[in-house]
Amino acid sequence: MTQAYLNGAFTALEDAHISPMDRGFLFGDGVYEVIPCYDGQLVAMPYHLERLAQSLSGIALTSPHSDDALTSILTELVNRNGGGDLGVYLQITRGAAPKRQHAFPEHIEPTVFAYTFAITPPSDGSPETAKCFSAVTRTDQRWDRCHIKSTALLGNVLHMMEAIDAGAEEVLLFNSDDELTEAAACNVFVVCNGTVLTPALDHQILPGVTRRQCLELLEAHTDWPVEIRPVLRQEVAQAEEIWLSSSTKELAPIVKLDGKAVGDGKPGRMWAVAQKLFNEYRFSAN
Ligand SMILES: Cc1ncc(COP(=O)(O)O)c(C=O)c1O
Repeated sequence: MTQAYLNGAFTALEDAHISPMDRGFLFGDGVYEVIPCYDGQLVAMPYHLERLAQSLSGIALTSPHSDDALTSILTELVNRNGGGDLGVYLQITRGAAPKRQHAFPEHIEPTVFAYTFAITPPSDGSPETAKCFSAVTRTDQRWDRCHIKSTALLGNVLHMMEAIDAGAEEVLLFNSDDELTEAAACNVFVVCNGTVLTPALDHQILPGVTRRQCLELLEAHTDWPVEIRPVLRQEVAQAEEIWLSSSTKELAPIVKLDGKAVGDGKPGRMWAVAQKLFNEYRFSAN
């Protein structure tokens, strides 16, 4: 039975209840993190805590816990769920107020919720273990604050459904200047003429922990050219390789885009090297 954490207590997930007046429920007024854990060890926790602090600051919410306290809570939660390979979901909302009003209420306690779910470890970088994706392209119709890891994900959800309705598994989003932003639930890397490209961080994309780790690993362990700059729709359409990056996937190859093969339609040579680096160094940011 999955154990959860809610506002100071550990409990069975089905016994964890919040008020319908919680602003996370009413307004999506909250932020979250998903932290992978392999063999009971949380991955890149300092980076997740750093981003959580940025997200909380982005919605003017003071964290109810220090970084050390949050780490202890999540470590305890992992142990209570048997360690192993888990995704840890942590959500902090502004809390429940007596009245539904848009303006921030005063004197309410944030709601802190966490639970775990089973995950399979990412690929070892071999083609046999690659989880390949197909994707479609769409115009990014989300909001202008995508750098905040907000629980208000309806824009992402609707884009993901566009992919699924088109028979694909992810969607690559482009702004009105035909520049790549990200995917519905991942950042994106593109290989063009042997150069690795990824969009720069701004309000249009989430500062992914895996994106950050990938850039650090490529810098430290390869001599590949890497460019952090606007990536044009045309470059994506002609790319030799496209990778999704996210905490639970690490790097996953997109092998089909808008119905056409990416490269030779198989996981790319550079993806294999990059994903092998994750296997060796995924805990290096701990
Ligand atoms: C919209 C979006 N972009 C990027 C990412 C990747 O972020 P991370 O690598 O921190 O998991 C996610 C992960 O959930 C996401 O939802």
